[in-house]
Amino acid sequence: MEIIAFSNKKGGTGKTTSAINFCAALGRKGHKVLAIDLDPQANFTADSGGEAIGTVAGTFDFILGAPLEDVVQHNEYYDFMGADKRIENQRNKFEEKGSDFLLKKALAKVEGYDFVVLDTAPSMSGIVFLALVACNRVIGVCDADQRSVTGLGDLYSAIQSAADYNPGLKIDGILITRDVPRTQANKFAVDVFHQAAAQINSIVFNTHIKERTVFHQCTALHTNVFNVDARSDGAKDYEAFTDEVLELFKKD
Ligand SMILES: Nc1ncnc2c1ncn2[C@@H]1O[C@H](COP(=O)(O)OP(=O)(O)O)[C@@H](O)[C@H]1O
Ligand SMILES: [Mg+2]
Repeated sequence: MEIIAFSNKKGGTGKTTSAINFCAALGRKGHKVLAIDLDPQANFTADSGGEAIGTVAGTFDFILGAPLEDVVQHNEYYDFMGADKRIENQRNKFEEKGSDFLLKKALAKVEGYDFVVLDTAPSMSGIVFLALVACNRVIGVCDADQRSVTGLGDLYSAIQSAADYNPGLKIDGILITRDVPRTQANKFAVDVFHQAAAQINSIVFNTHIKERTVFHQCTALHTNVFNVDARSDGAKDYEAFTDEVLELFKKD
């Protein structure tokens, strides 16, 4: 079971959009996917068609020991559990001594999935640390903006500090999103990502997710790109990215 964290300390880089469409693309290929929303903003939950947490249990309860069947929700492509403000308001629970393995331990009881996808918050707080301890793969999601590189650097440092708990973890690949090809700013940012990848023994995925209006529709309609327009270029971008990830994992 691959446990993959989508992460970057910078907000608005396309982490949630990428996690949702990756899960949907995997589901459409017949893979069994469980997604975990670890961001108190709960965008992943809302855009997966999730019930507001508070009325149902979710990630917070799962980390603290609730069984999967009590927290899991479903849509047509994948299973998921929803986040809510308790992750932030009661974050001291995840920062106490001995709490580093809570998510890993909870996941050790989970069976029957090919992939677990963790959508993380734009911070390097205790809850992101739990994700970096629990996962075996990390995808760094960067919008084509230089500030994303700083966020990636912070993610790299967080991985180093989790190394005692999760040795060998690295950023498997960098996904460039919101790409506007052929602009000077884009060219500069893409060069910087390639340099950063070389320094941290990672790669930049060949597929870039381009800036496309269909993703604004997805956010407005709270759904994935395949449900808005499965033949759109945005859907094709995420299909190509998903194929690339599957190929990359096959090699290891
Ligand atoms: N490829 C894209 N083209 C256009 N808009 C995008 C694209 N990817 C994401 N967005 C928009 O950018 C905003 C932030 O994306 P989101 O996935 O929520 O970022 P994060 O989870 O990193 O904070 C959302 O409004 C989303 O619709
Ligand atoms: Mg997000």
